[in-house]
Amino acid sequence: MFQSLSALPADPILRLVAEYRADTNPNKIDLGIGIYKDENGDTPVMTAVKKAEQQILATQTSKKYVGPTGSPEYNEAVAELLFGKELYSSLGKRRVTVQAPGGCGGLRLAAEFLKQANADATVWVSDPTWANHVPLMTTAGLKISKYPYYDYATHSVRFEEMLACLKTVPKGDIVLLHGCCHNPCGADLTLAQWEAVRDVALDQGFTVFIDLAYQGLGDGLEEDMIGTRLMAESLPELVLVSSCSKNFGLYRERTGAMTLICETETETTTATTLIAASARAMYSMPPDHGAEVVQLILNNPALRSEWDAELTGMRDRINGLRAKLVEQTRKVGIDRDFGFIQNEKGMFSFLGVNVEQVQTLVRDYSIYLVDSSRINVAGINDANVEYLAESLASVLKD
Ligand code: LMR
Repeated sequence: MFQSLSALPADPILRLVAEYRADTNPNKIDLGIGIYKDENGDTPVMTAVKKAEQQILATQTSKKYVGPTGSPEYNEAVAELLFGKELYSSLGKRRVTVQAPGGCGGLRLAAEFLKQANADATVWVSDPTWANHVPLMTTAGLKISKYPYYDYATHSVRFEEMLACLKTVPKGDIVLLHGCCHNPCGADLTLAQWEAVRDVALDQGFTVFIDLAYQGLGDGLEEDMIGTRLMAESLPELVLVSSCSKNFGLYRERTGAMTLICETETETTTATTLIAASARAMYSMPPDHGAEVVQLILNNPALRSEWDAELTGMRDRINGLRAKLVEQTRKVGIDRDFGFIQNEKGMFSFLGVNVEQVQTLVRDYSIYLVDSSRINVAGINDANVEYLAESLASVLKD
């Protein structure tokens, strides 16, 4: 039965991890997969996470099942982090948060739910969007369309075109937005733009679906939430998927959540039964360890402030690296203006070079980035920024 299968190409982001690992060039730079790296190129376990893990090890007395919707302590702590105290309490029981196996698990869970709510729904994704959004939605049976988003020439959001497109999206369809730190382009909506999108959503009646994987890595834990909170307080319905992979450094622990806001409490109660049934059918219940770490941190003031400080350090480092890269491109005499990188948010930006130039960077300089020219800014450090800028200069000259 398996003879007829044909191999699939490797995932464009994950493929680079193995290629980078196998490269013996001492100057190699990993700007591929979106993980935070420190000045030494390491991705250490955050101190607050280590402390919470020690606490779990010392006090956990059972590994019994947690249930398809996960840990209530985690779900509520995450919801409060997402919405802030006031909005969290005013949403009341119209909101439910369900633990999920990472951001991807949350997205897939949400897709299953949306498919049940409207089997004919189309999910509108930004052009460009994170490559994995498409399979996560289509494997649940949802259709995909794109709305204009990033202008590669001006390095800004094509907002008028985006809005014009959204004005054609009907009720029953879903518009997937990046809550902050847009992946792959780093260009986020302003508050006024979020408001305009909200107004169109209210006029058209489509469902807003937010993917939020980088809270705290753009401008701050509160600042990064302006768009999501605006939608949550002013729309009758909202789907939100969040991840603790990046801001808690819990990548492999698969720690995420799906949050749903319905128009009424009764609808939310009904919807929760469907979400729980989908979780049960796909993976039964989410892994516990990362969620336990997160809830211990968020519910303990000392651990929480330690985590907050560490996250601030990560964010400041990324923003500092953006400035350093721009400065180096000028120092090595590149004519092209890379100043836009400094205005973008989060881990990613496009270098704006073509596929051949990307492949030259990978092949001849051991600088690993995806074909779209997206770079993980956190992969830059003091020791490699000059080599990166010089390599970029040579590739641009060729
Ligand atoms: C990325 O975009 O590099 C990250 O979100 C990691 C992933 O799973 O693709």
